[in-house]
Amino acid sequence: MPRLLVRDLAQLVSPAGGGAPLRGAALGELDVIDGGYVLCDGERIVAVGRMRELGSLDGDVEEFDGRGLCAVPGLVDCHTHAAFGGDRVDEFSLRAAGATYEELHAAGGGILSTVKATRVAGADGLTRAVERHRNWMLRAGTTTFEAKSGYGLDRETELASLRAIRAAGGVPTWLGAHAVPPEHGDADAYLDFLLAEVLPDAAQLAEAADVFLERGAFDATQARRYLEACAAAGLALRLHGDQFTEAGAIPLAVELGARSVDHLEATGPEGVRALADSHVVGVLLPASALFLDRPMPPARGLVEAGAAIALATDFNPGSAFCESLPVVCSLAATQLKLSPAQALAACTVNAAHVLGRADRLGRLAPGYTADITLLDAPDWRYLAYHLGGPVVAGVVRDGAVALDPASRSAPAAY
Ligand code: NIG
Ligand code: FE
Repeated sequence: MPRLLVRDLAQLVSPAGGGAPLRGAALGELDVIDGGYVLCDGERIVAVGRMRELGSLDGDVEEFDGRGLCAVPGLVDCHTHAAFGGDRVDEFSLRAAGATYEELHAAGGGILSTVKATRVAGADGLTRAVERHRNWMLRAGTTTFEAKSGYGLDRETELASLRAIRAAGGVPTWLGAHAVPPEHGDADAYLDFLLAEVLPDAAQLAEAADVFLERGAFDATQARRYLEACAAAGLALRLHGDQFTEAGAIPLAVELGARSVDHLEATGPEGVRALADSHVVGVLLPASALFLDRPMPPARGLVEAGAAIALATDFNPGSAFCESLPVVCSLAATQLKLSPAQALAACTVNAAHVLGRADRLGRLAPGYTADITLLDAPDWRYLAYHLGGPVVAGVVRDGAVALDPASRSAPAAY
């Protein structure tokens, strides 16, 4: 593979690095190079710098014309539910007419209607669905995506979901404890089944476990039982917490040393303080809050208190049918009042920390994986500024052009 030189970039931007997620003032610190280049050798970045300081390169070098483009690190989506069958467009229309998400869930719709469609899709259908969703994400500039199971809720479909995520190159999380399926009497009986029948194989396929800790789903005692068993099986821990109510997710996440607690739309001042005093990353999902017309999470309060935050899409058919991190960055700026710089760090380097990959993903710097998102913009802040626009012009993934500016409609598989 010849080296790849992405040259004549209008701007080249990278967040700061470090062994821990960025927080406080460091979250907004960026290196911005005007008139820059990135040199990749195989799957790694070997140099970044200013064009005028680029010496002559000997040997075989493929050149990529970056004129009119800005380079940011390949975007990292650390929270998606990309493994599902069917859709929820009928429910979306009912919500537009006034029904609430929780009402639909309590009436057996919501997550459980996607469970039915996902079981019908089967292993092949799931593989095709995750690939399709992965390609949507790639077009939106995402080079690394996490995806959760959680719409199978039986042994076969949960494991098929994790396999489909792996096959599509995603980072798999086991969300067995997403909802209680109808064939199990109650949450405790369902957990008995999950831990005895599914966990041993899920732990071989997934990197992390996640639980929906919420009124109507799993309570803190049940979440603890599930997460402790998952940790004992070698999985990292994540939680869906404080989406509608504060039900103990943050204290549990801190106590168990979880990587993240995600949502936080309902988090109050005590939760903000507890998260700020911990190593747990708060993953904010403003597209989900927008899609459900819920309050936004207290992003500014979290940042000012010193908490580490990340941003993600929550891509799923019910609460956030949105795969675009650029849209999430727009929402971060307009709704969460984060600066574009804070938003960029939150969906690159900090998201990479949530996925345990910050040693190699989330920055444009020598030694990092050659994942580069190219923006059709004179200033990198168009990432957040161009609301819903075609801001992603191209993508380099693992040192190869995965989305060519010349043919945006036909991404190569990766
Ligand atoms: O993160 N809140 C729980 N789970 C998903 C939504 C799942 C769905 O509605 O299908 C979420 O928002
Ligand atoms: Fe989610």
